[in-house]
Order: sequence, then structure tokens, then C-alpha cells
Amino acid sequence: MQTAGAIGVFDSGVGGLSVLRHIRELLPGERLIYVADSGHVPYGDKSPDYIEQRALALSRFLIEQGAEAIVVACNTATAAAAATLRSRFAVPIVAMEPAVKPAVAATQSGVVGVLATIGTLESARFAALLERHAGAVEIVTQGCPGLVEQVEQGELDSARTRELLERYISPLLDRGADTLILGCTHYPFLAPLIRDVAGQHIVLVDTGAAVARQLQRRLQAELPGRPQTASSSAQFFTSGDAQQTSRIISALWGQQVTVQYLPEKFSRGEIA
Ligand code: DGL
Repeated sequence: MQTAGAIGVFDSGVGGLSVLRHIRELLPGERLIYVADSGHVPYGDKSPDYIEQRALALSRFLIEQGAEAIVVACNTATAAAAATLRSRFAVPIVAMEPAVKPAVAATQSGVVGVLATIGTLESARFAALLERHAGAVEIVTQGCPGLVEQVEQGELDSARTRELLERYISPLLDRGADTLILGCTHYPFLAPLIRDVAGQHIVLVDTGAAVARQLQRRLQAELPGRPQTASSSAQFFTSGDAQQTSRIISALWGQQVTVQYLPEKFSRGEIA
């Protein structure tokens, strides 16, 4: 029997698992390969060029491993590198951006808050997104330094994480936001704590499910008739500490996994 090619997914760390879980749900029977670029996390404070080099290296690795499509499960990497990846690789590249359109449709108060990395908020791509979809709705943005690191440590409910969330969310609530965009794939893992801090009435919007649907559409349109297996499988790689990453991924993924080291030539900072 012919074996299906894989779906390659990457993020700066474990945040992309918030997208991968939607892919697993929508597309059972796919072989999934996930790379957590934990040796280079966070992307949010790196230059667009640096992130682009990382995205190129990780995509090359995934394609070498048999990926027939790549999901950039990271808003920051999408802003810095999606266009370059599409120009360099022939496989479908599914990327993501903060969910401005659904949030604008959801708000009752006319004010939407965006929690994202500085890299995403400062990108031309984000400015264009607001231009297209904000309309008459007021969009208030908030960069969140330190939050990604909390998720990487598995601190989904610690006092320090709560303190950061209070600091970042209060100004948005003061401005009248009733809807918050989780514009970084790490943040859905903080949703219970965000609700606790912002109040249970707050509407939280993220893009994980929409990205999985977009992947499904692209596979059907561009790679029809791909063979499926009876159940999905997932392999995990990291450019950081494999033991630490195994511990966090197992907790977030809901089953014990062993994370492998990304080969040296793909895990270095500088790329040929
Ligand atoms: N998870 C990422 C995002 O969606 C990147 C976070 C980071 O490394 O700063 O933006």
C-alpha cells in the first residue's frame, strides 16, 4: 500500500500544538511531523530576517522528512516569512494571522483587543490586515513580552503568568474591549487563565480551527486522492532541550511523546 506523505508543522516552540490539535481532529489519518524551534524561542523579539532564516531551515527539514504540505503554526513567522516560503517551495504553505475578521464580526462594544508578539504587531502584514478588516471597529493592540516563555515552561496557571496577563489585559478592558484576539499560537493554552483575568463574558478568538480547515481545503484542491492511514501519527522534533520539550509537549498534547533532536544543520542559527 502506498504511504501518505506527511503534513509538516512548525512554530518557535510548543505554541503550534494549539493548531496541531485542530489538525489532528479534522484530519485523522494524517502523518504529522511537528518541529518546536525551542532553541530559538521566542521569535517575537527577533528580526524578520532571523525568523525568515529559521522558517526556511525548518521547512527544508520537513520536506526532507516527506512533508507534502507545510503549516506555519506561528503568527510571527507568518508575518516574517510566509511570502518567502511560498516563493521557495512548491508544496502548499498554509500560514496564519490574527483573527481580526471574526473578532470584528463578534464585538458588541465596537472595541477589539489584540494580544500578540511585538514582531506580529509591527509587521506590514498586520497593518494590511487591519486596513482590510477593521472597518469602524476600534482595534487596540498589546504586545506581550514574556508570555510565550511562560507557556514554554508549562506555567499555564502560575502567579507570574497571571501577573503578566493582568498587566497586558487591563488596558484593553479599560478601553472597552469585549473581544480579545489571541494573536499568537501559544496563547490559546492560557485561555482559562485569560478568562479568569478578563471575566467569563470575554469573547476569545483564535485561528487554530480555521487553519486546519484551510489545510484540508488546500489538500483536497492541490493533492487530491492522497492515501490515508487508519489512524493519525505524530512525530516531534526540537532544536532546544529534548527532555524539557518532551515534558511540555506530552502535557499539552495529552499523551506521552518522545521528542527527537532536530539534526544539527537545521538547528543552527545561521543558514546556507
Ligand atoms: N507562537 C508564535 C506566534 O504565533 C511565536 C511566539 C514567539 O516565539 O514569540 O506568534
